[in-house]
Amino acid sequence: MPLRPLRDERRAAAARALRPRPRGRGEILDVGDGVSGLAQGDRVLLCWLPACGTCPACRRGQTQLCLAGFLNAGTPNFKRPGGDVFGFAGTGTFAEEVVVDARCAVPIPDDVPFDIAALIGCGVTTGLGAAINTADVRAGSSVAVIGCGGVGICAIQGARLKGAAQIVAVDPVASRREAALTFGATEAVPPDELADAKQRITAGEGFDYVFEVVGKSATARTAYETTRRGGTLCVVGAGAMDDHLRLNMFELFFDEKRILPSLYGGGDVVQSYERAIALWRAGRIDLANLITHRVRLTEINEALDQMRTGTSLRTCVEI
Ligand SMILES: NC(=O)c1ccc[n+]([C@@H]2O[C@H](COP(=O)([O-])OP(=O)(O)OC[C@H]3O[C@@H](n4cnc5c(N)ncnc54)[C@H](O)[C@@H]3O)[C@@H](O)[C@H]2O)c1
Repeated sequence: MPLRPLRDERRAAAARALRPRPRGRGEILDVGDGVSGLAQGDRVLLCWLPACGTCPACRRGQTQLCLAGFLNAGTPNFKRPGGDVFGFAGTGTFAEEVVVDARCAVPIPDDVPFDIAALIGCGVTTGLGAAINTADVRAGSSVAVIGCGGVGICAIQGARLKGAAQIVAVDPVASRREAALTFGATEAVPPDELADAKQRITAGEGFDYVFEVVGKSATARTAYETTRRGGTLCVVGAGAMDDHLRLNMFELFFDEKRILPSLYGGGDVVQSYERAIALWRAGRIDLANLITHRVRLTEINEALDQMRTGTSLRTCVEI
């Protein structure tokens, strides 16, 4: 497919790719000419940010920064007259059959159920990686996670694995706060109680690590203010291309807060999948309970409503 590598297109593609979206898994029905390493019948998960393997970022082991994958992520596979597009992020997981770039199909071991694999294809890799790869949370530290959807819950699990002493989950939705407590948060508060929690838990200093997992300028600003001086703000939420987030030059240098963005787990993508599978297999992370609802493909609108309202943590579409 001809691609024009214009900066704005890349950024727009990435912005589309990072909205909360379904992730998928399946079985290979056929492979195209010249594809090696994949065969009919292979069980795979679908990667929305595949690595080309040859660019400078891939050669450095930062496959999450591969620009070829970046462009693929926002390029629909099919179009019809009138402008409708089919398939998202090159993966199109609301369909019984999809055509994907071979690099998007990553084989999974036989003991990994399809629903677990679908979770690993995005939110699990992103949230766990933010805590483990990007922020590299230190044992005994204090953590706040702002936004407790599927990604935030996995950041909580990652912080728990790294030995954080306090993990405060922040979310306006009561069911999400309750869920966060079952995945490792030590307490859960609505956004308007975060300032009190910061005062109570850190004597007003701020948390060692704060994860922004909503994707809004306002919550990113709150996250910055909730981080202690010298602490780490890890930006996971995918925000808009606007200039609403204000940081002044004085606070930037004087507070010495480390602002660390985390894209798709902040590390080699396939290695992150393998780590998530190993942790799941060892019972060290809970993935099954991330799926709170299941629907058939014909009930897809219900799944979207559940996602938008926060009724479900993750809805699995049975195809
Ligand atoms: N960095 C990446 O590579 C990457 C990858 C995938 C998704 N994302 C982004 O991560 C974010 C989270 O994804 P998700 O699937 O968990 O989404 P989600 O919609 O399931 O969860 C977001 C949560 O934020 C909560 N929230 C809303 N306003 C809030 C506020 N003011 N304070 C605290 N919490 C608030 C919502 O109630 C919800 O529970 C999204 O922005 C998504 O686009 C980033």
